[in-house]
Amino acid sequence: MLYHTPVLLDETVDYLVTDRSGVYFEGTIGFGGHTKKILSKLTKSAKYIGTDKDSTAYDHCRTLFKDDNRVKLYNTSFTNILNVSRIEFIEKYDGIFADLGVSSFQLDNKDSGFTYRENSPLDLRMDKSKGYPASFVVNTFKEEEIANIIYKYGEERNSRSIAKRIVEHRKVSKIETTEQLRRIVEEITPSRVVNKALSRIFQALRIFVNDELNELEDFLEKSLSVLKIGGRIVMITFHSLEDRIVKEFFKQQTLTCVCPPEFPICVCDTTPSLKILTKKPVVPTDEEIDENSRSRSAKLRVAEKI
Ligand SMILES: C[S@@+](CC[C@H](N)C(=O)[O-])C[C@H]1O[C@@H](n2cnc3c(N)ncnc32)[C@H](O)[C@@H]1O
Repeated sequence: MLYHTPVLLDETVDYLVTDRSGVYFEGTIGFGGHTKKILSKLTKSAKYIGTDKDSTAYDHCRTLFKDDNRVKLYNTSFTNILNVSRIEFIEKYDGIFADLGVSSFQLDNKDSGFTYRENSPLDLRMDKSKGYPASFVVNTFKEEEIANIIYKYGEERNSRSIAKRIVEHRKVSKIETTEQLRRIVEEITPSRVVNKALSRIFQALRIFVNDELNELEDFLEKSLSVLKIGGRIVMITFHSLEDRIVKEFFKQQTLTCVCPPEFPICVCDTTPSLKILTKKPVVPTDEEIDENSRSRSAKLRVAEKI
C-alpha cells in the first residue's frame, strides 16, 4: 500500500544534506518517504531525529526504521524540537526539515477523519489527544468566529453564508460528522464549485484545530536556535499562509537593521542569522505534477545559518 508520495524529493535531499555524517532533524516524518532518501545519503555515523504528531505515521516509521540505529523518532509536535534535542544530547543540527500539512494517507483514510469524501467523526486533529475536534468549533463557536476561520484559513469567499447555515443547522441538530458538514455546504454551494468549497472549509478547520500557523512560527524560531553555522532549514509548504510565514521569517533573519525608518542612523546592531538559498521557491516540475497531482501547490524554501 502506498501511503504517501514524497514531493520535491531530490531537491529536498540536495539542499538539506551538507555533511553526510551530520545530525539532522525532520519535523514531519509522515510515512518516511523523505526520511528514507535522506538516510540513504548519510553515513553510518550520522544521527537522525524525527517527529510526527500523528500516531499512525509514527508507528509506521518506527517499524520502517527499527533496524537503523541512526534514527530516533518521537510521536510529538515538531514544536518540541528543543526538548527532544535535549533528550538526545544534541546541541546543534546540520539540517532541519519539515514537509508541512497532512499526508495522502491522512487525507484518504476514512478513519483519519480528514476527508469530506468519507463519513467519519468531524475531528481533523492530527493528534487526537490534544485540543478539541472540529465538531466543537462548528457546534459552539459564534457565527462570526466560524466565518472568520473559514475565510482566513480557507480563503473561502462564501464564508459568511456557510457559517450562517452551520449555525442554523446546529440549532436543529449537532454537527458531529464529516457528512453532516458536507451536506450543509452542498445545500448552499453551486455544484460546479462544491468540491473546491469543501476542500477549503475542511482545510480551514484543520489548520485552526491543529494551530498549524502558530506551531510553524514557533518551530522556525526554535529551529534557528539549534542550527549550526552553515546548517540549513528546508521547508516545504502547501498553503499560501504557510509559505508567507516561512518567507517572512527567512527574510526577517537576513536583515542587517530593524530600526524604524525615521531613525537617522542605525542603533539596533542587528546581525543577520540566515542567508536565503532559494530567492524564488522551488516548485515541482510538470512531470512531478502529472505523476502526483497533490504536489502542485508545494513550495520549497531553504535558508542557511550564517
Ligand atoms: C506532508 S506529510 C509528510 C510526509 C513525509 N514527508 C513523507 O514523505 O512521508 C506531513 C506530516 O506532518 C505531520 N505534522 C503536521 N504538523 C505537525 C507538527 N506540528 N508536528 C509534527 N508533525 C506534524 C502530519 O501528521 C503528517 O504526517
